[in-house]
Formats: sequence, C-alpha cells, structure tokens
Amino acid sequence: MTLRRTGLVALTLSWLAAGCAPSPRSHAAHEAGHGPRGHRFERAAEWTAVFDDPSRDEWQRPRDVVAALGLAEGMTVADVGAGTGYFEPWLSRAVGERGVVLAVDVEPDMVRHLGERARREGLTRVRALLSSPDDPNLAPASVDRVLVVDTWHHVPDRPAFAARLRDALRPDGRILVVDFRPDARRGPPAHHRLSAAEIARDLESAGLVAREVGPALPEQAMVLGQLSPAQQ
Ligand SMILES: C[S@@+](CC[C@H](N)C(=O)[O-])C[C@H]1O[C@@H](n2cnc3c(N)ncnc32)[C@H](O)[C@@H]1O
Repeated sequence: MTLRRTGLVALTLSWLAAGCAPSPRSHAAHEAGHGPRGHRFERAAEWTAVFDDPSRDEWQRPRDVVAALGLAEGMTVADVGAGTGYFEPWLSRAVGERGVVLAVDVEPDMVRHLGERARREGLTRVRALLSSPDDPNLAPASVDRVLVVDTWHHVPDRPAFAARLRDALRPDGRILVVDFRPDARRGPPAHHRLSAAEIARDLESAGLVAREVGPALPEQAMVLGQLSPAQQ
C-alpha cells in the first residue's frame, strides 16, 4: 500500500468510524478522490476495515435498511455498488434459501472479493457481478428489489442509471437508494451529498413513483422508488 493510499484509507476510516468533520487537508485529499473520473475503490482489501467496521451498524442500521426494502423469501435482490459486501449477509437472510442476491460492483477486485467472501461465509445465494458506471448489468425484468447504498452520488448520469434500474425491475419491483444527506457528520465532500428530494427527482425522471421512507437514519436519506401503475 502506498503512503498516499494508506493516508486516504486512514482519513476515510476516521470519518466513517469516528464521525469527525473532515479537516481542510483531509477534505482536499478526498476531493481528489471524487474527481471528474469518479472515485475509485480499486483494492477491496483496503476498504474492508472501512465498510465492514463493526461500529458502522450503530449509524447504518442495516436492519432498518433491509426492512425498508420490503424483501420476502424467494425474491431476487440486487445490491448495486455492493463494495466489500457489508449488506450481503443481511440480504441473504431476508431472501432465504430460494432467493438470490446479486452483488454488483464496477471494481473487478470488489467483485472478486464479494465472490470469495460469499464462499467463505457460506452465503450460497450470493452471485457477484461486474458492472460499468453507467450500466448495472441487470437483465430486463429480472429483479424484485434493488438496494443502492452510498453509491448513488458516484453515478455519473443518475437519471439514465435510474432508467436502467427501472427496466431491471419485475412487476411490483422497488429500488431503495440510501446516501449521505447534506447535513451528515460523515461521508463524501459536501457537494457530493444528496438530499432526499434530489434522489427522488432522479428516480422520478425514470417515471418511478418516489418517496422518502423511514425510520430516519442518523446520516443518510432513504428514498424508495416504485414502478407506477402504468409501468407494471
Ligand atoms: C462507498 S462504497 C459503498 C459500498 C456498499 N454499498 C456499502 O454500503 O458498504 C461505493 C461502491 O460503489 C461502487 N460503485 C461506484 N460507482 C458505481 C456504479 N456506477 N455502479 C456500481 N457500483 C459503483 C464502488 O466501486 C464502491 O465499491
């Protein structure tokens, strides 16, 4: 690990774990990561300590997030921008033996890590899939639920991406987008944060019916998008 990369991971760790406001210097470092070509998460091993930090559960509240998705046994759920797989055990439990969890990411090393983690932890329903920044690589009408956590602000063309996710939904399908609010005490630089209203607009631009849902998380907005009756 290079010194610069070690520093970036340490900074992110301190923001996520301790919830500190970024210093001007750390802000500049993270800004560089969120440049015009997007933020890269190339080496999964470096991000496990951040995304799978056990203290994350306190503010991430995975039980509430999964409850807001409205999963049932046997469903297919796609976790788009799955990262190191923080949500995969939760999603696997919710869809049960007959369900499928598609763990999708744009980083090849995250996808490798997701597959290995699933094998190691006996998450037999998880399938790791490589996608591209503007295409989640999901077949039309193939999923019941889509979860997108802390990833929406990385998507280059959100309305177009929302339309691709919409096309992947089965009738009665739902998309839950969870991302850091402008008033969050942790997360990406301020101008990358998104209000619930902005996320809802992105989903509505794809013709979905969108609304903020609860219970309210301490740092993130949760917005649920559903197919309109005309799209079912
Ligand atoms: C901040 S991490 C969040 C990971 C995970 N959702 C979690 O909550 O722990 C963002 C992840 O989204 C991935 N990503 C970024 N842009 C993406 C896109 N357009 N489509 C799919 N994945 C994307 C990154 O490679 C990274 O693994």
